[in-house]
Amino acid sequence: MCGIVAYIGDELAGPILFDTLKRLEYRGYDSAGVAIKSDEKIEVFKSVGRIADLEKVYTGLGCPGDCMGIGHTRWATHGKPSDKNAHPHTSGEIAIVHNGIIENYLDLRDLLMEMGYEFLSETDSEVLAHLIHFYYKGDLFEAVCKALERVEGSYAIAVLAASSPYLVCARKDSPLVLGKGENAIYVASDVPALLPYTKDVIRMRDGEISRVYADRVEMMDLAGMPQPIQMERITWDADAAERGGYPHFMLKEIHEQPRAIRETVAGRISEIDGDVRLDLGMSDEELEALERVVIIACGTSYHAGLLAKYLFARAAGLPVDVEVASEFQQLQVRPRTLLLGITQSGETADTLLALKKAKTCGLPSLAITNVVGSTVTELVGSTIYTRCGPEIGVAATKTFTAQLVALILLSIRLGRARGHLTPDQARKMLIELTRLPGLVQRVLEKRETLREIAETYAGAGCYFFIGRDYLYPISLEGALKMKEIAYIPSEGYAGGELKHGPLALITEKTPVVALATCGKKIQSNIKEVRARGADVIALATEGDPDIGKVASVVIELPETRPVFSAVLATVAVQLMAYYTANKLGLPIDKPRNLAKCVTVE
Ligand code: G6P
Repeated sequence: MCGIVAYIGDELAGPILFDTLKRLEYRGYDSAGVAIKSDEKIEVFKSVGRIADLEKVYTGLGCPGDCMGIGHTRWATHGKPSDKNAHPHTSGEIAIVHNGIIENYLDLRDLLMEMGYEFLSETDSEVLAHLIHFYYKGDLFEAVCKALERVEGSYAIAVLAASSPYLVCARKDSPLVLGKGENAIYVASDVPALLPYTKDVIRMRDGEISRVYADRVEMMDLAGMPQPIQMERITWDADAAERGGYPHFMLKEIHEQPRAIRETVAGRISEIDGDVRLDLGMSDEELEALERVVIIACGTSYHAGLLAKYLFARAAGLPVDVEVASEFQQLQVRPRTLLLGITQSGETADTLLALKKAKTCGLPSLAITNVVGSTVTELVGSTIYTRCGPEIGVAATKTFTAQLVALILLSIRLGRARGHLTPDQARKMLIELTRLPGLVQRVLEKRETLREIAETYAGAGCYFFIGRDYLYPISLEGALKMKEIAYIPSEGYAGGELKHGPLALITEKTPVVALATCGKKIQSNIKEVRARGADVIALATEGDPDIGKVASVVIELPETRPVFSAVLATVAVQLMAYYTANKLGLPIDKPRNLAKCVTVE
């Protein structure tokens, strides 16, 4: 997904822009560019490929005056990856970087062309540069306001004019954060890019536009009315956003799961009451009256939603519909429905749009997200935060297990409010929940065994993951991880469904990972695939007396309640996918064609 940065201050802008752009690389990109103001002139450098390629074309301005600039990593939406389509886009003395989609760009483009503007790119963003140029009569802020009034769609922008002493930033439906340094303001799409420079940040809100000087920010709405500025102190240190000694962020983040789980649970449980403390913005009577839950999510977060289907039915007697956000049609209005959006980034466009559509029915709504103040939190009534710290690896790991934990907490709260769980039943789940970080740690300690197995099968042309019950969503997640980072075609399947088609694909060349900690039925599925010659790697409960008789290899996971074993199995399949991709020498943290956060439909 595109990333934006900007800088204004006493230092040379170029090196700071490159450094902050590199810290946004995890969002995924195909080209990059910077515009730097130098002696009342704007110099633009762009390149397809990595930031390192861009650095090569940067001729190294180095005048003391080069202390203001904007930068961009582009993930193509309108127009292929090319130098021309890379940002910044310019018009006369104006340069802009944009993240989002200008929906009415074709109309605006026609209009601007009639006025004589020449378009050099195929992007929707270039219209913004020309539109701002058209309105620019010496007051950049006013010109941007006027231009944005004409624009439909989403944007986070940073704008530079050769003759303007300040930068202009604006946002609508796309994230933008300003960081305050010593006589310097740093701008980025995301907090981790700013952490080496400052921990004091201002998250711009939708509809806000700011005049950014080195020593101050003036925040307004599009009508020019001053808006209050909320400075937030970020408590993660810069190290939290670095690899911390691991070869990849993904491996680091897999190992951070015990802590992420512990923090997601912290302060939220009362073993004495056998209950969970969550501010859901609804009374127990309202929770009791609920008749169903509709979950909207994408990708890995969707798999978390699928697990909730089993969990909420059992713990709270609540039926759940789980919808892939991009396929969400229109909610059949049924009262007493709770809407739940799950999105680690809080910015996934498909999820936000589906939630907006669903919300028109006036239903109570909740979100589970990892990013404080992200857009989803503005859309819903209440938010349950997972507390993982930033996740940099494109493939979600710690945010997924923390989502599962947040869903377990929510199911207990719902179960208690609805009288579906007794305090004693809830207490037993909560005691087990507090053991979970330690159990995850024990799975992490099996990394060497998992590495050896992964490396043995790294040459496979196709992988299968099978599971039943709580482990069915985890089989989907295991297959997704293998596809995402190891590029191995993989299928996640409900064990019982194999015989209805996919069994035809099973041969001695198809390793099958059987998630076997929930019940014995999976063993007949293991026999089915063994009979077709496949090797079966079983993830089973410690001491299971039968599994060794049917599987080729057994990895033992600590004994726990079935829903918690889904978390343990997740960690094991994450490690398998990681070591497979590592053996294949693939770019694990930035897999091809994928983005951490997809802010386009
Ligand atoms: C992208 C990421 C996936 C993620 C999905 C949903 O496709 O590559 O890892 O699961 O977005 O993201 P969200 O932030 O909504 O959970």
